[in-house]
Amino acid sequence: MADLFIGLMSGTSMDGIDAALVDFTTTCPNIISTHSHRYPAALHRQLEAALELEAPLNADLSAIDAAVGETFAAATSELLLQAGKVPENIIAIGSHGQTIRHEPAAQAPYSLQIGNPDIIAMRTGIDVIADFRRADIEAGGQGAPLVPAFHQAVFASNTEDRVILNIGGIANITILTTEATTPVSGFDTGPGNTLMDSWTRQHLQAAMDNNGDWAASGQVDHALLEDMLTDPYFLAAPPKSTGREHFNPDWLSRYTLRSGANANDIQATLCELTAQTIATAIQAHAGSADRLIVCGGGVHNNHLMGRLAANMPGLAIESTAAYGVTPDWVEAAAFAWLARQRLAGMPGNIPAVTGATRAVSLGQLVKP
Ligand SMILES: Nc1ncnc2c1ncn2[C@@H]1O[C@H](COP(=O)(O)OP(=O)(O)O)[C@@H](O)[C@H]1O
Ligand SMILES: [Mg+2]
Repeated sequence: MADLFIGLMSGTSMDGIDAALVDFTTTCPNIISTHSHRYPAALHRQLEAALELEAPLNADLSAIDAAVGETFAAATSELLLQAGKVPENIIAIGSHGQTIRHEPAAQAPYSLQIGNPDIIAMRTGIDVIADFRRADIEAGGQGAPLVPAFHQAVFASNTEDRVILNIGGIANITILTTEATTPVSGFDTGPGNTLMDSWTRQHLQAAMDNNGDWAASGQVDHALLEDMLTDPYFLAAPPKSTGREHFNPDWLSRYTLRSGANANDIQATLCELTAQTIATAIQAHAGSADRLIVCGGGVHNNHLMGRLAANMPGLAIESTAAYGVTPDWVEAAAFAWLARQRLAGMPGNIPAVTGATRAVSLGQLVKP
């Protein structure tokens, strides 16, 4: 009997909605079909505008919430068609939604994901679990990162200590030790691709620095790098999580305006910032790890992967593909898994990761 769930995820990079159909019959989840669905250009522009910090969270947002819900539903329909499945084959959808604001340190902490789950449920005829971050925040946590429990379920080993690194817009690590008594830990290390993406958009009018070739053509500006490394986020102790509220184009221009470096040198510096902050976090919290296993879009940035290796000599580095999960689909599969946990009444957060006072089942169930 297949145990089929769909995971829908769109991260801070907003490069597209990742839709994955996952079978959980075996211990290693089997991703049977995937579909990457772009936002329509006009909606993408509206989302970028909604992400501006000054943008009011008003009625416009309800319309965008509905439009994102429609797009997530369309992504699901295309995934089903491609996989030759019907809604009755699917137990539930885990929909992360699109993050508009993540303010876990605010006086009234919150994390807001949009993409109306009622619309997704009605259009697809499938049960939807959404709003995964809220219960963890109510339990006193950051509401993020939420992928570590899935990383533990799939990638933990009893013979070696492993670190799982996800390089999305923001980068996060999960530390998995062989000691059953050591709780899984993990946190957001800071920017993954987001600063490199925005610098590339500004200077090359392209969505990304393909393979990191542009960064590779420049020289690191060490004074600029040291300046950026003084950001308090890098020095703060976990639990911690971050997003585009903090690491955004304004953050970038505050530093770059003080630097006279060429644009490609700045790109090289941003790549080094990502590599060094990840390496420093791993050295400080998982110094004896045997292996680093990487997922997320950043795995395709060859220059970044090279700089990670250079900053952590001696550490074996591989992609999650070597462990049966394609690196681009780990996060979507994680939300499919979190939906399954929710239906089983099982926890989805890890208190040692998010800072929550207890493990809780995450997400709200919406029926069509
Ligand atoms: N071929 C590539 N070369 C360089 N960077 C890439 C490549 N493919 C993907 N990326 C990076 O990965 C990002 C998307 O990663 P993803 O894991 O989807 O992040 P998010 O979860 O924030 O959406 C892109 O914005 C880009 O920066
Ligand atoms: Mg993405």
